[in-house]
Amino acid sequence: MNNKTLAIAKDCDDPLAHYSSLFAHNENEIYLDGNSLGKLPLKTKTVISQLIEEQWGEKLIGSWNEHWLALPKRIAQKLALLLNAFPSEITVGESTSVNLYKLIHALVQSGQYPKNLLTDSLNFPTDNYILEGIAKQLNLAQPVCVEYVSDLNAELKLLKKQIQQTPGIVCLSLVSYKSAYCYPMRELNKYAAEHHSIIVWDLSHAVGAVNIDFKTTNTLAAIGCTYKYLNGGPGAPSFLYVSEKLISHLATPIQGWFGHRRPFDFSPKYEAAEGIDKFDAGTPAILSLAALETGLDITLEAGIQTIRVKSEALTSFLVALVQEELIPLGFRLESPIDVNQRGSHITISHQASWRICQCLLYGKEEGTKIISDFRPNKYIRLGIAPLYVGFEDIYWTVQRLKEIILENEIDNYDEQRPVVT
Ligand SMILES: Cc1ncc(COP(=O)(O)O)c(C=O)c1O
Repeated sequence: MNNKTLAIAKDCDDPLAHYSSLFAHNENEIYLDGNSLGKLPLKTKTVISQLIEEQWGEKLIGSWNEHWLALPKRIAQKLALLLNAFPSEITVGESTSVNLYKLIHALVQSGQYPKNLLTDSLNFPTDNYILEGIAKQLNLAQPVCVEYVSDLNAELKLLKKQIQQTPGIVCLSLVSYKSAYCYPMRELNKYAAEHHSIIVWDLSHAVGAVNIDFKTTNTLAAIGCTYKYLNGGPGAPSFLYVSEKLISHLATPIQGWFGHRRPFDFSPKYEAAEGIDKFDAGTPAILSLAALETGLDITLEAGIQTIRVKSEALTSFLVALVQEELIPLGFRLESPIDVNQRGSHITISHQASWRICQCLLYGKEEGTKIISDFRPNKYIRLGIAPLYVGFEDIYWTVQRLKEIILENEIDNYDEQRPVVT
């Protein structure tokens, strides 16, 4: 069976194939950037326009009691289902950066762990900036950043050695944004616990694509965004998780009225809510939450185990095609070969990576356009969102990459890059 026939056969056998029809698509386009911004679920259009017209437009302030106050809790419950947490351990709202700030600050001030901040060179820049800022504000030593030989894979021995030397609060992205390298969550949580440390997991590149189970992995703290694989929409609210074992020790650095024990008493004195609600600060972003709920419902309905099985099959198919057809043309595979060590995007590189991304994006005459993304200095990320990417999409992407090189299309573009890539 050739690769094209194989792809068609795999699409026919795909139990999630019909989920693609739940999303908005452009004609003649393959979207491989769901690891950055997920696609628009068609239902979100109706939900948002109804909310605007009926709840905001007609019922105005009455909608708070009737619909909106319950929304963040309902979403937290759904996230708890997805991540195997108790609903009382999750809250949703604000950006990932802000939630990370609140969580790390609270952990430092809790006195539960030594006040050393640690991260590593695979982490997303905002996480490192947040740690650095907190260290300055609280007069701590600057965070230790474990530097690996490669910016694609962790060296667990080195990471563990550093945790042993400077135990404390460790912030890691479960799935690394550059290569999709995925840490052994349970093993590292255990190691951290044995060394008087805690790992705060940034799940942004994992949630909705990787099967995460807070209970079996003994995860104590995490944050993550919802606009990638959960298809919550641009700037969708992020979530914050704290295990019930820890919550009573933590206090939020942002004492907003929504984190008050009784916000609608309008008391002049701040009294923190007891549970996870203490981390809420201000009025929830209702439109964004409503959009997020639709995306999240699709993931829950499809089932994260089935999604992960498809993700593994899709990324393995892509890895095999890269090895067979692209490496001979000067490409490199930058993501882990072992499926258990990677999330749901595949990173490749080439000496002309930026120009190749431009060729993919603009297409050839009437040909298919392919949206991938570029991360400096040389990485092309191909995001494989299992809810709407199929095996044939992968087959055609690889054929297009071959064509770009074999027909010297890169000569049509220069190396200049815009601000957002
Ligand atoms: C791993 C990771 N962490 C944090 C962020 C930043 O999230 P936010 O912009 O919601 O603060 C991103 C954004 O893409 C990310 O990929």
